[in-house]
Amino acid sequence: MAESDILFKTFVVRNVLPICAIIIGLYILKRNKKKVNGIVSAYLLNRFVPSANKATKREKEKLFAELFDQQRGIDSDLMILEIGAGGGANFEFYPPNSAITCLDPNRYFNEYLLENSKKYGVHVKFLKGFAEKMDDLESDIFDAVVCTFVLCTVDTTKSLQEVRRVLKPGGKFYFLEHVAAEKGSFLSCIQRLLNPVWRRILGGCQIIKDSGESVKMAGFSNTHITPFSGKFPFVFVVRPLCMGIATK
Ligand SMILES: C[S@@+](CC[C@H](N)C(=O)[O-])C[C@H]1O[C@@H](n2cnc3c(N)ncnc32)[C@H](O)[C@@H]1O
Repeated sequence: MAESDILFKTFVVRNVLPICAIIIGLYILKRNKKKVNGIVSAYLLNRFVPSANKATKREKEKLFAELFDQQRGIDSDLMILEIGAGGGANFEFYPPNSAITCLDPNRYFNEYLLENSKKYGVHVKFLKGFAEKMDDLESDIFDAVVCTFVLCTVDTTKSLQEVRRVLKPGGKFYFLEHVAAEKGSFLSCIQRLLNPVWRRILGGCQIIKDSGESVKMAGFSNTHITPFSGKFPFVFVVRPLCMGIATK
């Protein structure tokens, strides 16, 4: 083979082929952006859950203890709706045999939900949808609605209206969320500076919302809120936290 042919072949293999592969890869990624995003965020969130649960275990156990009281008061399985359920981070805190409807816009959590439902002995149904518009769900059907680390992302007013609609009279809304730091504090300044970028990168999550206050204003008959400092691994801006129970 002539030297010029060898040089040409080497040039193609070393330069043209990798560039073509990158262009094709980027094109495929662009066409499937939503799918890739869904798969990657489901995977990453699922990996993050054990450390998040470790950091909030004591509080979650306290918060969800009332689910067991609710379960004791009825003959059938407890009907729970979890909004923004992710991969089922809270299943380990639920009474066994709870019937959980998991509402989330990301269908790629389904695989993790099934895995965790088997692990913790709960019955799970996945529903693709948004907290702001739960059209597929009838009014007054759930004993409990749960959300953890979701109110930071959704339209709080619309979502809480929907939560009240689907709860049975006397049903309870359990929540645990990160909230804005005290106004005027150093952390509050950092949160305000970071929020626009944070929101863009992390799927709409905001670190300057006071979700506890929003629940108080949402028209429940009774709301108990417990603030706590919360120490998330690596993420010092995602604090303080609050948890609570609001009764319809
Ligand atoms: C930070 S993750 C929390 C997941 C889980 N609750 C936990 O504690 O690990 C936020 C979840 O809310 C979901 N989400 C985002 N926008 C939503 C919306 N408008 N309605 C319901 N869920 C939403 C996301 O897909 C994701 O599963």
